[in-house]
Amino acid sequence: MTLIRRLKYPLGVLLFFKSYYLQAEAYPLSDCDKYQYPGPLNPSFESGVLDGWTVVSGTAFGQGSIVGETDSRSCCGDFNQVGNYSVWGYGNDGDPAIGVLQSSSFQASSVTSFLVGGGWDPVNLYIGLVRDSDNALLLNQTGMDDEAYIRIIWDTSAWVGQNVHIVAYDNSTSNSWGHINIDDIRVGCAALGDGNLTFNILGQANQPADGSLPDAQLYSVDPFRPQYHYTPYQGWTNDPCGLSQLNGTHHLFNQFNPDSPFGAHISWSHAISSDAVHWRRQPVALTPPYIDINSSDNSGRWTGSAVNDNGTLRLLFTDFTDTNFHPGAESEVVSTADSSDGITFQLYTGNPVVAAPPPDSPSGFRDPKVFLDATDNTWKMVLGGGDSTSGKIFLYSTSDMISWTYIGVLIEGDGTTGTMWECPNFFPIGDKWALFYGGNGQGWWHIGSYNGTNFVSEATGLLDIGSIYAAQWYVDESGRNLLMAWIYNFGTYKYPSRVNGYVGATTATRELFLRDDGGLGSRLITEIDSLVTGNPVSFGPQTVQDSLAIGHSSTGRLQLSVNLNTTTASSFSLNFLSSSAEKTVLTYTVANKTLTIDTSEAGYGPGGLVNAVITIPGNNILGLDILLDRTILEIFASDGTAITQRIYPRYFESTGITMVVDDGAVAITNITLSQYGSSWN
Ligand SMILES: *[C@@H]1O[C@H](CO)[C@@H](O)[C@H](O)[C@H]1NC(C)=O
Ligand SMILES: *[C@@H]1O[C@H](CO)[C@@H](O)[C@H](O)[C@H]1NC(C)=O
Ligand SMILES: *[C@@H]1O[C@H](CO)[C@@H](O)[C@H](O)[C@H]1NC(C)=O
Ligand SMILES: *[C@@H]1O[C@H](CO)[C@@H](O)[C@H](O)[C@H]1NC(C)=O
Ligand SMILES: *[C@@H]1O[C@H](CO)[C@@H](O)[C@H](O)[C@H]1NC(C)=O
Ligand SMILES: *[C@@H]1O[C@H](CO)[C@@H](O)[C@H](O)[C@H]1NC(C)=O
Ligand SMILES: *[C@@H]1O[C@H](CO)[C@@H](O)[C@H](O)[C@H]1NC(C)=O
Ligand SMILES: *[C@@H]1O[C@H](CO)[C@@H](O)[C@H](O)[C@H]1NC(C)=O
Ligand SMILES: *[C@@H]1O[C@H](CO)[C@@H](O)[C@H](O)[C@H]1NC(C)=O
Ligand SMILES: *[C@@H]1O[C@H](CO)[C@@H](O)[C@H](O)[C@H]1NC(C)=O
Ligand SMILES: *[C@@H]1O[C@H](CO)[C@@H](O)[C@H](O)[C@H]1NC(C)=O
Repeated sequence: MTLIRRLKYPLGVLLFFKSYYLQAEAYPLSDCDKYQYPGPLNPSFESGVLDGWTVVSGTAFGQGSIVGETDSRSCCGDFNQVGNYSVWGYGNDGDPAIGVLQSSSFQASSVTSFLVGGGWDPVNLYIGLVRDSDNALLLNQTGMDDEAYIRIIWDTSAWVGQNVHIVAYDNSTSNSWGHINIDDIRVGCAALGDGNLTFNILGQANQPADGSLPDAQLYSVDPFRPQYHYTPYQGWTNDPCGLSQLNGTHHLFNQFNPDSPFGAHISWSHAISSDAVHWRRQPVALTPPYIDINSSDNSGRWTGSAVNDNGTLRLLFTDFTDTNFHPGAESEVVSTADSSDGITFQLYTGNPVVAAPPPDSPSGFRDPKVFLDATDNTWKMVLGGGDSTSGKIFLYSTSDMISWTYIGVLIEGDGTTGTMWECPNFFPIGDKWALFYGGNGQGWWHIGSYNGTNFVSEATGLLDIGSIYAAQWYVDESGRNLLMAWIYNFGTYKYPSRVNGYVGATTATRELFLRDDGGLGSRLITEIDSLVTGNPVSFGPQTVQDSLAIGHSSTGRLQLSVNLNTTTASSFSLNFLSSSAEKTVLTYTVANKTLTIDTSEAGYGPGGLVNAVITIPGNNILGLDILLDRTILEIFASDGTAITQRIYPRYFESTGITMVVDDGAVAITNITLSQYGSSWN
């Protein structure tokens, strides 16, 4: 696919891809206007009443469903509805109410789109396209457990001219997210964009079945899908775990639910790589216990680590037991599994290897991380926990990976970073020790000293100022300290990718280093440049006033150096994923050395502001190294500060990269924009 083709013929490209996996009948390209009939009455509810719509059954829908921007219930200011009014499935009779709302009948055009919000429940909550003649449900789309609207596009060319209607279907009695929202139904060419901008084509109906296409194409057809950050094809993913390199192969496991884009009955997915950039899926390594007995049993195999145990790949992990189904069981214990081929894992028959938490950890006990302690050349393990006032890290030792001895509390917090520390990692770096963990929804590092039993922190900070959690370290076979983390949306929760069936991603592989100021910094590994396609666009030394159009990219890398000695501007910004309708803005303010990322105009989902004060090196050159991957922005400042954001652009054209300068000039040393190809190629 070329970009030009899609700009001119958005529907054509939809059908072009569909022809790969649906053998769709040949349909003339760009004919959204040829098979275009009037849509339903009151398609965006702008009359402020349910004119043209029929409440078929139940109380879930009614006049109370119509909400406006200024509604006293003020549910919907951030929903991103079109116009003033939309249908909020909660508004008439709350979550548990059920019912069906039906549009007027209309002839199907070749393409239909609409906004959906509300609960995720593919069976009981959906917007549907129904044929009048036989009441067949032709297409359906559930929500995301998020009120904010997402535009779904349906290829309705198979039913052109037939009489159909739209339904909002709610058969969910759930007290939580038991409702579905709809707004702005469009048919024909208007369904595909706004003015000169083309909607990204989203929705489960556009997602080919896993395995029906080569991976690179499978991932390419989804505009929200990262092209070189690891994501499983469908389902939920959270913490990376078991990061390791053995016999040359890098291993990445993730907390994974293959069945839905929600965290439940967790498995360990598995991928391998020869370069920590190009990951290849492997069979699921660990499956949850008991799920065959009852699918509601949430017991699972939670986060843990992997070590090279004399040639076998050994996993040590939290075995979580759902006490609703197993009353009296210990909910979090440590178990182990190993593999001689690195692919197939055998659970140790004597599990668990740590059968209970230490007595002083009522908040929890999880995420074992095993490391070789060079101070006494023995294997040690750190685990996270805490009590009502402080987070804690516990230390264990072993001589055989099976029998573990509790040493004590490695370090205890003061409560400011939470009362349950998760995902601890502990390792030597330079002549210091680094500790990091997750607490209060953020990843914290400490650099300090360790005497074999206790760690004393000398400096602390955040691993990333943005949306990562559950970072995990490993040392590769060349001795580098590497890190990967879960990209999520703490702070401003966003779930747009649920409409395509998945949630969660993993960062690019980062190398950790001791910063000049003694902190823990991260930067990209050099292997990532193997993704470069074509010739990078470079700008040499120059002075920028007002603005500079750098180029376009949604999957690439921007590297930029600014000489602050000769920069007179008070601040400058880089706009990413930008078009006339949306943008993500990274601003550097010279006076207070602050990087600010603003996602408030960045597309679907709530946005916000994130700030980081950075350190400028002695030569007064600010370096920025930025990865773009469709919905991921990973920003590294030259001092080792990292800022990750998840952004969901509405429009296909939102790929612009522009520098904007405030009062004065910016002295550019150089700028390089490289395009990256898919790591699935
Ligand atoms: C929304 O309401 C405002 C003020 O009440 C009105 O001027 C505007 O035309 C309305 N917009 C639509 C799309 O109905
Ligand atoms: C909704 O559509 C999917 C295919 O996209 C189908 O598998 C599912 O059965 C449909 N749901 C209902 C309730 O018909
Ligand atoms: C609605 O859900 C109930 C169970 O909660 C089920 O018995 C009923 O068949 C469902 N209705 C339809 C139309 O599927
Ligand atoms: C679309 O039109 C707007 C103004 O109407 C213009 O500013 C913008 O550059 C155009 N965008 C593209 C991608 O052509
Ligand atoms: C699974 O557990 C739920 C909740 O306890 C119960 O309602 C359901 O009947 C169980 N299903 C099976 C197959 O045992
Ligand atoms: C490691 O494995 C080798 C061969 O499998 C065996 O001879 C050796 O004893 C093992 N070493 C340890 C420390 O278990
Ligand atoms: C690593 O290589 C050694 C020597 O070839 C082999 O014995 C071992 O099984 C391999 N381990 C894995 C996990 O592949
Ligand atoms: C390590 O430090 C702790 C806390 O200061 C102290 O209690 C312990 O004795 C020290 N251990 C060694 C081996 O020095
Ligand atoms: C830095 O200065 C800018 C511009 O005055 C301001 O918006 C921002 O909040 C400041 N950041 C910090 C961390 O003080
Ligand atoms: C900027 O100025 C400082 C102090 O005069 C100097 O040490 C440094 O080399 C200069 N940097 C560049 C890039 O010229
Ligand atoms: C850009 O300039 C910086 C600072 O002079 C330098 O370290 C870097 O190597 C240059 N990058 C490129 C791609 O030329």
